[in-house]
Amino acid sequence: MNFKIALIKGDGIGPEIVDEAVKVLNKVAERYGHTFEYTRVLMGGESIDACGVPLTDEAIAACRASDSVLMGSIGGNTTTSPWYKLEPSLRPEAGLLKLRKSLGLFANIRPAYLYDELKAACPIKDEIIGDKGFDMVIMRELTGGLYFGERKTVMENGVLKAYDSLTYDENEIRRIAIKGFEIAMKRRKNVVSVDKANVLDSSRLWRKVVEEVAKDYPEVTYSHMLVDNCAMQLVKNPGQFDVILTENMFGDILSDEASEITGSIGMLSSASLSETSFGLYEPSHGSAPDIAGTNQANPIATILSAAMMLRFSLNLDEEADAIETAVKNVLKKDYRTVDIMSEGQTLVGCREMGDVIAAEI
Ligand code: IPM
Ligand code: MG
Repeated sequence: MNFKIALIKGDGIGPEIVDEAVKVLNKVAERYGHTFEYTRVLMGGESIDACGVPLTDEAIAACRASDSVLMGSIGGNTTTSPWYKLEPSLRPEAGLLKLRKSLGLFANIRPAYLYDELKAACPIKDEIIGDKGFDMVIMRELTGGLYFGERKTVMENGVLKAYDSLTYDENEIRRIAIKGFEIAMKRRKNVVSVDKANVLDSSRLWRKVVEEVAKDYPEVTYSHMLVDNCAMQLVKNPGQFDVILTENMFGDILSDEASEITGSIGMLSSASLSETSFGLYEPSHGSAPDIAGTNQANPIATILSAAMMLRFSLNLDEEADAIETAVKNVLKKDYRTVDIMSEGQTLVGCREMGDVIAAEI
């Protein structure tokens, strides 16, 4: 079959990790008889440098004309890069937020799974991790809340004051809650909905709507957890979680925490989905400008994101399984990039990691 994939390489390590994912996808195409047609799309810093804005209308149109979007990472060093001298709406991250909003990508799925082979890289004690490890997904709302509320900085009575507003309407909450319960049905049928209902009105509405949605999923057990407690539980007993359902900002923070306990943020893939099968796939990590161009980045999160793309947008389950198995196999064979390296293993660079994963397909 023939598929159109928009490729956003982005900034920092973005181009390196996307190249490795493309290497693996090309191997899949060859092996299973598909054609992947790639369209390069600029976003973030690379778009600012080329077009003066972090995302052009043409870039959005090119994404829309594709079956799915595969992305590396965007942004630079926020203290030294000239991109951060621009007004906030012209900085790299604004491009990503605009793309998520324009494409209606409200459901962000971030799986955090501890590979047996990476137990040594997990910063949590063995007695907590136990034999069963952990296997969870964070279902993060992606187009509402603090990220998209009204914001401004004004001078009031000679004092600078900044406002960011956190708004959710019940429909935004309902559609993400449904996605959370749907994914739970395909997993261990447990949802922990995370909020700050002891303080925030938006969280109290969140709870109410989640309770309504839960009624339609009698097989799924669910509970509510306050976000500060959740941050603690993730390091105290990560094995308790199956699906964590939460709003945009909490999901941003908790997903970084969840990824780190898998051994490295370099392992965490993500899918951002709309109501249709269209989606954007990107690693959950940032652009790591400090190691850009040094062939040290871990491409696995991007390669696993490509696998999610095959599964969710292109309906190629067997091919997705092949990539996931290939990643497991290279970890079993002890190939490691520097972020997941322990004693006695084989240190490889970003390109070599792509090579050995492609070779397993
Ligand atoms: C993420 C990132 C983005 C976010 C940034 C780059 C705007 O941290 O995808 O988690 O906060 O959503
Ligand atoms: Mg983040």
